[in-house]
Amino acid sequence: MKLTAILLVISICLYHVQSFYLPGLAPVNYCKNGEDTNTCKSKVDLYVNRLNTEESVIPYEYNHFDFCLPSEELKSPVENLGQVVFGERIRPSPYKIRFMENQTCTLLCKKTYSGNDPQDNLKLSTLRKGIGLNYQHHWIVDNMPVTTCYDTEENEQFCTTGFPMGCYSKNGRQTCAKPVSKMDASYIHNHVDLTITYHSGAKEEWGSQFQENGGRIISVKVVPRSIDHRGKPCSQTEDYLSLPIKNLQQGETFEIFYTYSVTFIENNKVKWSSRWDYILESMQHTNIQWFSILNSAVIVLFLSGMVAMILLRTLHKDIARYNQIDNGEDAQEEFGWKLVHGDVFRPPRKGMLLSVLLGSGVQVFCMTLVTLAFACLGFLSPANRGALMTCAMVLYVLLGSPAGYVSARIYKSFGGEKWKSNVLLTSMLAPGIVFGLFFFMNLILWAKGSSAAIPFSTLLGLLALWWLVSVPLTFIGAFFGFRKRAIEHPVRTNQIPRLIPEQSIYTQAIPGIIMGGVLPFGCIFIQLYFILKSIWSSQMYYMFGLLFLVFIILVITCAETTILLCYFHLCAEDYHWWWRSYLTSGFTAIYLFLYCCHYFFTKLQIEDLASTFLYFGYTLIMVFLFNLMTGTIGFFACFWFIRQIYSVVKVD
Ligand SMILES: *[C@@H]1O[C@H](CO)[C@@H](O)[C@H](O)[C@H]1NC(C)=O
Repeated sequence: MKLTAILLVISICLYHVQSFYLPGLAPVNYCKNGEDTNTCKSKVDLYVNRLNTEESVIPYEYNHFDFCLPSEELKSPVENLGQVVFGERIRPSPYKIRFMENQTCTLLCKKTYSGNDPQDNLKLSTLRKGIGLNYQHHWIVDNMPVTTCYDTEENEQFCTTGFPMGCYSKNGRQTCAKPVSKMDASYIHNHVDLTITYHSGAKEEWGSQFQENGGRIISVKVVPRSIDHRGKPCSQTEDYLSLPIKNLQQGETFEIFYTYSVTFIENNKVKWSSRWDYILESMQHTNIQWFSILNSAVIVLFLSGMVAMILLRTLHKDIARYNQIDNGEDAQEEFGWKLVHGDVFRPPRKGMLLSVLLGSGVQVFCMTLVTLAFACLGFLSPANRGALMTCAMVLYVLLGSPAGYVSARIYKSFGGEKWKSNVLLTSMLAPGIVFGLFFFMNLILWAKGSSAAIPFSTLLGLLALWWLVSVPLTFIGAFFGFRKRAIEHPVRTNQIPRLIPEQSIYTQAIPGIIMGGVLPFGCIFIQLYFILKSIWSSQMYYMFGLLFLVFIILVITCAETTILLCYFHLCAEDYHWWWRSYLTSGFTAIYLFLYCCHYFFTKLQIEDLASTFLYFGYTLIMVFLFNLMTGTIGFFACFWFIRQIYSVVKVD
């Protein structure tokens, strides 16, 4: 049963690996010259999201900069928990677009700055700073990101979501499309050319929803421009509008006209259901991803071969010999892993901490597994903004029970008696660390006035989720865990601990642990690049099918390396395996951390202190959760393996 279910999920995932089908979202029909009705909208809403950049971790809301605001009060769309916690702020915009109505050049608003007002100078300097740090607009139309496209050297079109708020030339470096003459100047993108392609429906396709002059939006592309309007909006000039380099003096004034144009183009070749393809194809380098899967598959095959060899050949031989010796008359000296049978289940030191970590690890593991399964079934696509993080957070909270249960059972099998501390620690330690780090980073964001700072009410909401839902669930799980009999071990533990012989360098604890993380990390590091890119450069991530495969491969490699090393250590008569099995695969997290550092220094251009703090803060949270997960996988793999091998040897 279980196997069929797993196979089913995997096959659906494989099917989704290359097709970007996004189920569950109904299309919006637009039509020309109409009033907005239930079946058909004529107004095309453009929403603006927060601005962000690769050169800083701190995002800012649209209103942080002095852009045009809507004249009337428009309601912002409702955001889910994931969006709020991860800093998305979607707001209405003043752009007025009606379906199938071209606009050549429309004035949006005019901003005037005067040197007499210190506030105005501040606003201008905020704009200059934003442009200098390459902050990017993120606009949304019809639930699709607005993209900018350009041709690559291989004559392919490359599209990204978002576009810069301006361009600059500074110290010989310049980011503008055409060469600019002035040194050290910032040019604001005060004009946008929007190109909206639509699919005009056919009767047979739309059925009862068919409308003359109707259509569905396929893509929205933007070309941002900087235009010096010379005091008259939409006068035809080619010059860029450069912001004043220094603060305005008394009596000086400066004007910015914001304008836009809209072109509607019919395109019946692209179906509405595959309208995301062009964005996702630009983002995902499918070849590299397949290469990464191949790379991981080779590692898995190699490891599985080793493990199979040990399990089948060596172990078989060992067991046969052990059991033969028992039958034989002359009792030979025992050797190898059988020698430590009286110590292998001796409870570890700091059993409390280990059991708490394992409980939390199970929680993270189940959360990841279920989230990825949902994601690769297509429920958490980028079209459902914030759904992925909302799902992960809600699952984490709900999975308090398994955490409590596992922690309690393991702790009880260690002979622990302080069950109250155990439950409390399980429900407080890991979430507390994550929440603490998160809270600390929120203080920084708050001080910087960033949009990623979550509102106080949301913070309270998160606390309530933790204290009122997660903690009680953990207690319930722990209650059932403690009520059960302690896990019985296949062999009895001796009174007096055996002396562990001198270990060679290969079987010492630390080298083993350091080696243990290498292979699992090797399986994931190519995928990791895309994940980090999607987090820090707000690229969309949609290859969840592949990610799910990689996750399964990660689980297998973690389990296999740990079993392998565990076997070697036991053969060397070293029976301290509890903590070591956790740390062996958990060490993958340290490699993850090193990789994040590498990414920080080579791929991001972050210079300011606050951003650096935030980057490493978020990284620490990630590394911590990853350590819990991988460590737990290794521990349970090893636990299972040891129980198996000691239950087949005869011990007097
Ligand atoms: C809008 O402009 C485009 C390009 O110039 C043209 O193909 C299209 O027919 C125009 N649409 C309308 C509704 O005028």
